[in-house]
Amino acid sequence: MSVSYNPQERVFRLDTPNTTYLIAIVDEEGFLGHAYYGKRIPDDNMQYTMRIFEGNVVPSVNNRDRVAFYDSLPTEYSTFGLGDFRESCLQVLDENGNRGVGLVYQDHRIIPGKPSLEPLPATYGETDECETLEITAYDPVLKLKVKLYYTAFTQIDAITRSALIVNENDQPITLTRAFSACLDLDNRNYDVITLHGAWSNERQINRRPAVPGRQGISSLRGVSSAQENPFIALAEHTATQKSGQVYAMNFVYSGNFMANVEMSEQGLTRMTMGIHPNGFAWNLAPNDSFQTPEVVLVYSSCGLNGMTHTFHDLYRGHLCRGPYRDQRRPSVINNWEGTYFDFNEEKILRIAEEAAKTGIEMFVLDDGWFGVRNDDNSGLGDWYVNTKKLPNGVKGLAEKINALGMRFGLWFEPEMVSPDSDLYRAHPDYAFQLPDRPHSLARNQLVLDLTRKEVRDCVYQQMYEVLSTANIEYVKWDMNRPLTNVGSYAATRENSGEIYHRYVLGVYDLQSRMLRDFPNLLLENCSSGGNRFDPGMLYYSPQIWTSDNTDAIDRLRIQEGTALVYPLSTMGAHVAACPSHMNGRTTPFATRGHVALVGCYGYELDLTKLTDEEKAMIPKQLEDYRNVGDIFRTGDYYRLASFAENGKYDVMMSVSKDQSKAAIVFVQVLTNLRGRSILMQLEGLDENRKYRCNLDGSVRTGAAWMYGGLLLPKLAGDFLSALITLEAVEE
Ligand code: DGJ
Repeated sequence: MSVSYNPQERVFRLDTPNTTYLIAIVDEEGFLGHAYYGKRIPDDNMQYTMRIFEGNVVPSVNNRDRVAFYDSLPTEYSTFGLGDFRESCLQVLDENGNRGVGLVYQDHRIIPGKPSLEPLPATYGETDECETLEITAYDPVLKLKVKLYYTAFTQIDAITRSALIVNENDQPITLTRAFSACLDLDNRNYDVITLHGAWSNERQINRRPAVPGRQGISSLRGVSSAQENPFIALAEHTATQKSGQVYAMNFVYSGNFMANVEMSEQGLTRMTMGIHPNGFAWNLAPNDSFQTPEVVLVYSSCGLNGMTHTFHDLYRGHLCRGPYRDQRRPSVINNWEGTYFDFNEEKILRIAEEAAKTGIEMFVLDDGWFGVRNDDNSGLGDWYVNTKKLPNGVKGLAEKINALGMRFGLWFEPEMVSPDSDLYRAHPDYAFQLPDRPHSLARNQLVLDLTRKEVRDCVYQQMYEVLSTANIEYVKWDMNRPLTNVGSYAATRENSGEIYHRYVLGVYDLQSRMLRDFPNLLLENCSSGGNRFDPGMLYYSPQIWTSDNTDAIDRLRIQEGTALVYPLSTMGAHVAACPSHMNGRTTPFATRGHVALVGCYGYELDLTKLTDEEKAMIPKQLEDYRNVGDIFRTGDYYRLASFAENGKYDVMMSVSKDQSKAAIVFVQVLTNLRGRSILMQLEGLDENRKYRCNLDGSVRTGAAWMYGGLLLPKLAGDFLSALITLEAVEE
């Protein structure tokens, strides 16, 4: 039993294997207070931790101090306007122009399993895998119901939260802020951890001390963004990879968001997450409801590794879907960095023939195959084949690639339109725009108004035509500019605050339609590289392109940050040409292979231009991907050493769930031959089993490898790497 209610204590409890979360009904009025979240404990009576009687601020004791009560209560879902001056989850505008909300407990249900949040993406689980608590809170003045959902997983230390807001009034009401979760904790000298970045430099781990007042991250780009990932964590200042307490939130959403940490005067730290309130105003007619996206909450008492393992397990087994969820993804050759827009069928087939000889399993044709698209100035929106480049159509090309023994995948950018396109000429109103203002172009393109069904139908019809007439087994879904000038021809003054969210729902609708009609398709999301690496997207695509930066050394930081939260099995990672198109750096082919090996493996270059020596390395790299790649894809991942932190070398390790195998990628960024070799203490092995190391065949116990350590090979040069494996042996 993961969820229960103790009527004597008036406390709800949620248990996961190692954590407990307690919610208390406070005082006679029924405020919903947050009593405890942390390491698993048997007790229900933790209300004393809320200290609500200190200074007699409880309303039933002294109504005079209602403001002090609201502003100091560790609460479950903070509301605006009545006295809680900290970040609020809910704010409204009612018919009389009032904005305040006050919620009290009304009733609750315990639901086996987890209700779906469709049309929103969300984690899922069977009835023996999770249990859900639905608490209904009510504002009797507004006649507004808020159903708070909490799901506790039975095998994974994750709790998910969302809220359904229902207008039971006979008057309309507007939600001007509707967050998904709030977590009030005692201040324990926390650091704030976020994933900050930029195009080609996504998800850099940023850790800094929490300070009094508000601090946080957000996106107003219409996508979750490369600049700030929808992830925030509070880690005790002393927490390390292996020890210390960490509380994290991750948003299952792909649009504007806000995540805040606020240290208040009472010594409380509030963490909140939800749809960004800027530009958001959602109208609820009588009986209408609004479902917030889901927040995943993770608590770890064993440092960042514990947090990472929980996110990885949850997302691999309870967020990603489809036939590829548990499968090794095909190795791919993608032509983008190999040809950019400059290709024709002959050139593509020459690359494909080389790829087929090496054993690469799938060819992915990137941007440029449709409309008039010889550069990025035109063609988006015209999803019919450019017969000048591909005289036999996509179908003919796919057949030829299939005849080589390879599968075929295709790139789309369905959310966009070029001003120079047939689609735009026929339907200029299909693009977001603000009348009387010049277009704000980015990459010379506009964003389609996917809030409108006719626009989605038009794009989808074109995609369906292509996908249903050729043997296409993979789609790369790209999105290369942020949303601006968000004006819709369908919008009115009343509903314009719904556009950003309806846009995201439109994207989810299109991806759902595609997966419904082509259930065996492997979908990879992508957005100017890794702009859209978020849990919302993982619900549709079990992998996401990590970054346009394919330089192996820059990728160390990008992949480390990404893997802090997201499973290695979801990270698109390719071997690209050198000097790197991104930064001009030249790294050995083997190192590029090792760095890509930890993710969904592929090549992104013109294979016809490789040296014979490089080409000869590919079959072995593919063999490593088949054998060792699975350990990274399905195992427990450990950051043994971080180049981002030490500036010299990186060591990533993964151990299979049954602890029979381990794989380690060591990248020596800067050579250090004068120093002694590095003695690296491994992690995650079974102390009592013996493991053979591929480096020299030596056999030692897991205890020896973990507490004594493994001598990393001495490599003579910069940017060199080694792939190390350990296998349990019976001796
Ligand atoms: C951005 C993507 O991240 C690249 O991989 C590539 O698909 C280009 N767009 C194509 O325009």
